Amino acid sequence: MDTDLSGRTALVTGAGRGNGRAIARDLAAHGASVVVNDLEAGPAEDTAETITDAGGEAVAVTADVSEADEVDAMVAEGVGELGTIDILVNNAGVGDAGPFLEKDDDSRFQLNLDVHLWGSINCINAVVDDMVEAGYGKITNVTSIHTKNGVGMSPEYDVGKFSALGLTKSLALELGREGVRVNAVAPGWANTRMVEDFSEETHEQITELNPLGRYAESEEVADAVTFLSSPASDYVNGHELRVDGGQVPIDNWKYDNR
Ligand SMILES: NC(=O)c1ccc[n+]([C@@H]2O[C@H](COP(=O)([O-])OP(=O)(O)OC[C@H]3O[C@@H](n4cnc5c(N)ncnc54)[C@H](O)[C@@H]3O)[C@@H](O)[C@H]2O)c1
Repeated sequence: MDTDLSGRTALVTGAGRGNGRAIARDLAAHGASVVVNDLEAGPAEDTAETITDAGGEAVAVTADVSEADEVDAMVAEGVGELGTIDILVNNAGVGDAGPFLEKDDDSRFQLNLDVHLWGSINCINAVVDDMVEAGYGKITNVTSIHTKNGVGMSPEYDVGKFSALGLTKSLALELGREGVRVNAVAPGWANTRMVEDFSEETHEQITELNPLGRYAESEEVADAVTFLSSPASDYVNGHELRVDGGQVPIDNWKYDNR
């Protein structure tokens, strides 16, 4: 299987920790130069440093992906340092959600759409012309187990992730004609900061419903992203690859952690 990414430049958003950090490190381990984005400078720099310490090439660039101007400046800086972007991973994410009937306002809907939908659109806008010109590109949007059937008590996050899936499916049809593959990776619950405040009850609910009886590790999510970013998946387009251990959706989440 050809997973060699030598000579390719990748942009990974939200790569200061968790899944994004594992993805950035794995792409670099397969030969890609990596633009490491995060909202927070310190974590992004830490990730870039782990890559360069291991002999890879990386640069950290801070930007809020929901702000188009910041994304354009980030891509310009990344391209200037490492070359045009061949691989984009829209991984930046937020977990803010709760029952619809208990919300005080719609700010969490706004945040989820700003980051998961507009963050992805902004980044694609900033790199797609170069990909089309090259006749080759790989875009992976990180969705979630939430897109399997929705997860009860978290409509804001569901809407954010389903919108990213819709973007994936539609752009795959259009951009595939230009040699740009657009896919998604849907992690199950993974051992990251996003789940660390979950209550004991929620942890039990998640692991009991999972056939493998555990959370995903970020490195397992990264394996799927690397596959979709590599020549090994050149005939895969518009696909959502689930990395969830076969987890069934939760229709009545014990969300008391939020
Ligand atoms: N952990 C899980 O259980 C799980 C499950 C399914 C999907 N996911 C998805 O995986 C992705 C990574 O999440 P994680 O679990 O590693 O969470 P995490 O909180 O550990 O990391 C998310 C990173 O995204 C960054 N970020 C947030 N908003 C940003 C913005 N506007 N611009 C740039 N960076 C921003 C954060 O600073 C953080 O470093 C997200 O898209 C998340 O929705 C996570």
